[in-house]
Amino acid sequence: MPITSSISFLRTRLSRAPRTVLVLGSGLGSIEAEIQDAVRISYDQIPGFPPSTVAGHAGALIVGIHSGVEVAVLSGRFHLYEGAAPGDVALPMRALAALGAKDLVVTNAAGGIRPGMAPGDLMLMADHLNLTFRNPLIGGVAGTEDRFPDMSDPYDAEFRRIALRTADELGIGLVQGVYAAVLGPSYETPAEIRMLARMGADAVGMSTVPEVMVAQALGMRVLGISCITNVAASVGGTKLSHDEVLAVGAGASSHLARLLRVLLPRIVPSNLPTEAAS
Ligand code: HPA
Repeated sequence: MPITSSISFLRTRLSRAPRTVLVLGSGLGSIEAEIQDAVRISYDQIPGFPPSTVAGHAGALIVGIHSGVEVAVLSGRFHLYEGAAPGDVALPMRALAALGAKDLVVTNAAGGIRPGMAPGDLMLMADHLNLTFRNPLIGGVAGTEDRFPDMSDPYDAEFRRIALRTADELGIGLVQGVYAAVLGPSYETPAEIRMLARMGADAVGMSTVPEVMVAQALGMRVLGISCITNVAASVGGTKLSHDEVLAVGAGASSHLARLLRVLLPRIVPSNLPTEAAS
């Protein structure tokens, strides 16, 4: 089913054009309750959206206002490990960009690799390693997308400065780090975690990078926050489970929710500091 059918369906159902796309990862869905004036459409009603199969992912698009910002919340996402093609994983991003979205705020659950990272910590994504070896941009150039997008600032430096300052003001711990994206769905072996650490990864997860690559090709500005739900295999010495990931994600989502309430309005253009003021 072509993306044009998703876009025309969403145009008929939505009366507002979202500015910011907010993707909520595993266990982080409770933030959707904060959206005012919300129109909620479950993914299975949207033509062209692939079916979502993961427990803990509600699978709905919620469009409305969050802290004064027009947002489109993707509560639950599509993962490569579900069997979705890379282009399908990124389809919601492309559809929302066609409706006018300019910024992307992505969240995810991740395993902490860097020593000292503990379940419940928040990591600001400074960069990523695409170890899925998949790319949603393969194929014909879609619409106005860049054929060869620059990836030298995948997570906008100004957004990151504002995020760090905001977290500091609120007394919320936020450290920058590199997110390694892997295919999953099995968690990593101890040897794989040692390899990822040597490659420079601070955290590992199974999502986010396809959406970010498409956002870059579309010229969107991106902010990414990982919720460390567990210590990566072998570092912690305990077995990993999806239930633990969901439970810790749900626990940490109150910090994330508090951060986003202040941060989201600060990254819309009318509120960005001028060069002289920053
Ligand atoms: N590895 C990969 N993906 C994850 C993890 C992990 O340890 N935790 C949450 N998502």
